[in-house]
Amino acid sequence: LPDTFSEGPVRIAVIGGTGISALEAEGFTAVASLNIQTPYGAPSSPLTILKTPQNTPIAFLSRHGLHHELTPTEVPNRANIAALRSIGVRSIVAFSAVGSLQEYIRPRDFVIPSQIIDRTKGIRASTFFEGGLVGHVSFADPFDTGLAKAVFNIGSDGVLKGEGVKMHKDGLLICMEGPQFSTRAESNMYRSWGGTVINMSALPEAKLAKEAEIAYVMVCMSTDYDCWRTGEAAVTVETVMGNMHANSANAKHLAAAILEELAKEKYQDLVNAKHLEGSSKWACCTA
Ligand code: ADE
Repeated sequence: LPDTFSEGPVRIAVIGGTGISALEAEGFTAVASLNIQTPYGAPSSPLTILKTPQNTPIAFLSRHGLHHELTPTEVPNRANIAALRSIGVRSIVAFSAVGSLQEYIRPRDFVIPSQIIDRTKGIRASTFFEGGLVGHVSFADPFDTGLAKAVFNIGSDGVLKGEGVKMHKDGLLICMEGPQFSTRAESNMYRSWGGTVINMSALPEAKLAKEAEIAYVMVCMSTDYDCWRTGEAAVTVETVMGNMHANSANAKHLAAAILEELAKEKYQDLVNAKHLEGSSKWACCTA
């Protein structure tokens, strides 16, 4: 594939999580593979540029690297967001495998979260504001409300083909450090907080997207019941990977449907994140 793409800015990106290290979908053609360097180093993987059936260019990034070699703690989040922003990206649809903290979210169900609780340990570089540049962006709504609504509507429309596979909205996502899974006590504590699902990858990705004025939404794909359910085996990597493989066909169908829909004229203000323009500039308080 060529290592340059010069047909104008790419506005939408998909970030693939565990189980989605490439985006092959019917009608999508890869046209370039960009190796981008940023002031924060190289991103997790080259950015693959693909054309949708409507000929819209989109970018794909594999969060854990091409061979799943980066732990959630090691993901170079600043390089990832900076690289995407540098080619013009203004909206991101991120995918992530999650554990379910609620009975009604069954393995293979999908959840669009609207809130998040940060249980990472403060060891991930999580801001672009530093070194003399002081800024505080709002993170009250960590996921873009308009984009989340659009993605939920597309996903509820029969795209998830598995029998009984459901799409849920307004989830409360717990993002933990890992790499170990939670203890039963922690899992029950998250349930008492109202947690819907848990992962290790939403942060600081969502925070950095906010600082970069990028509309960001996460599609959570349930792979397990974590370890809170009595009488059931606790989550293992084997369970996560097995269900993730089952999810990945659904995820690719959903990604393709989202990208086709978002290419429509009525979504252009949203995918160009017009509503976020200037938000970081005015959050900056260095004179
Ligand atoms: N990713 C997938 N399942 C998970 C779980 N139970 N806890 C944290 N991250 C996960």
